[in-house]
Amino acid sequence: MPLINEHYLKLAGGYLFPEIDRRVQAYVHDHPESAAHVIRCGIGDVTEPLPLAVREAMHKAVDEMGVRETFKGYGPPFGHEFIRKAIAKNDFQDYGLDVEADEIFLSDGSKGDCGAVLDILANDGANRIGITDPVYPVYVDTNVMVGNTGPAKEGGGYEELVYLPCIAEHNFVPEIPKQSLDVIYLCYPNNPTGSMITRDQLTAWVRYALANNAVILYDVAYQAFLRDPSGELPRSIYEIHGANRCAMEFHSFSKDGGFTGLRCGYTVCPKELKGRRSDGEEVSMHRLWSRRWSTKSNGVSYIVQRAAEAMYSEAGKEQVRALIDFYLGNAAILREGCEAMGLEVYGGINAPYVWVGCPDGVDSWGMFDRMLEQANVVVTPGSGFGRCGEGYFRISAFNSRENVEEVVRRMKAMADQGEPLHTS
Ligand code: MLT
Repeated sequence: MPLINEHYLKLAGGYLFPEIDRRVQAYVHDHPESAAHVIRCGIGDVTEPLPLAVREAMHKAVDEMGVRETFKGYGPPFGHEFIRKAIAKNDFQDYGLDVEADEIFLSDGSKGDCGAVLDILANDGANRIGITDPVYPVYVDTNVMVGNTGPAKEGGGYEELVYLPCIAEHNFVPEIPKQSLDVIYLCYPNNPTGSMITRDQLTAWVRYALANNAVILYDVAYQAFLRDPSGELPRSIYEIHGANRCAMEFHSFSKDGGFTGLRCGYTVCPKELKGRRSDGEEVSMHRLWSRRWSTKSNGVSYIVQRAAEAMYSEAGKEQVRALIDFYLGNAAILREGCEAMGLEVYGGINAPYVWVGCPDGVDSWGMFDRMLEQANVVVTPGSGFGRCGEGYFRISAFNSRENVEEVVRRMKAMADQGEPLHTS
């Protein structure tokens, strides 16, 4: 029998979203009459169809694949030049940012990339890893899997990870740590709290990373939801001077183009970014990341690459914006509905997630149960994102307008029936 990777055995419980699904299935099994009424606002999965420009591009690409002259076999593992150039231009150069096409690595989504990046870093605890709390659980679990943590701790979290608490008083942005870290995960607009980091706060993090020779793994999966007419809030970490020397950035087409079922995203690995060998010699991370991709992947399907490219056409941009406006409209309804009930509400302005304080005396899973049993609404318990998420629950705005309005009606009905829903 082969030896297994025992680090997997340290993982506490199942991955959050399948666990939620399991509990919902169990509830529906016991209450079959409620099956048709359940509204899922747990996992942030899009509900609206793909933009027309994207669908048209895919039809065209399918036709190309059916003709010998335009058929495509293996493409470059990092993505075809047409999409890498479109990304570099539209997401960076048009904003005055110095990111080139050969620093873009296309993939089947940023979730995979957030785990894959550990391939090019020393593991088994060789780096000190800083993780925000609450956090997208992928960052934590992938570090557990490669041996960067000790065992699970009583009450949540893992030994040896450095948790960076994100609390309401600081708008869910972590304070700069006193100790030196090697790898730091940040995500803004933030999942799960829906909060946003200011330019000054991100600048402080970039300075910290440069001073400590650390790398920031910056996840901008929800970038398209950032609506800041003043331009003051940073869309990309590369807006901060020096970030090309200390940050990789993870992008997703899932939440803006609705690609959760299509799969596509990309990572920026700047050529200036360096890691070091154990003897101290500097090594280009771009070189290692390129090597990793060319060995482990044949890239994203040609049809999907054309679909992603279409998001940058004039029509595509307009359609994507309309999609995001729609979800932000949902977020506003949820936010205002919860506020009107006297709940403590965060997020939902520059993000598709509304982060809500649990009513007095109810913990996160308790609120999950109440919402499921009394309103037939699935939410995500804040504690599933980390210890500092306890006392909150997350409502996803990815749903139809009808369902979102119904969620608010049902919550109000709970409150009207005497269910204490306010947070003091
Ligand atoms: C979430 O609900 O946090 C996200 O949809 C999960 C993901 O993007 O993988």
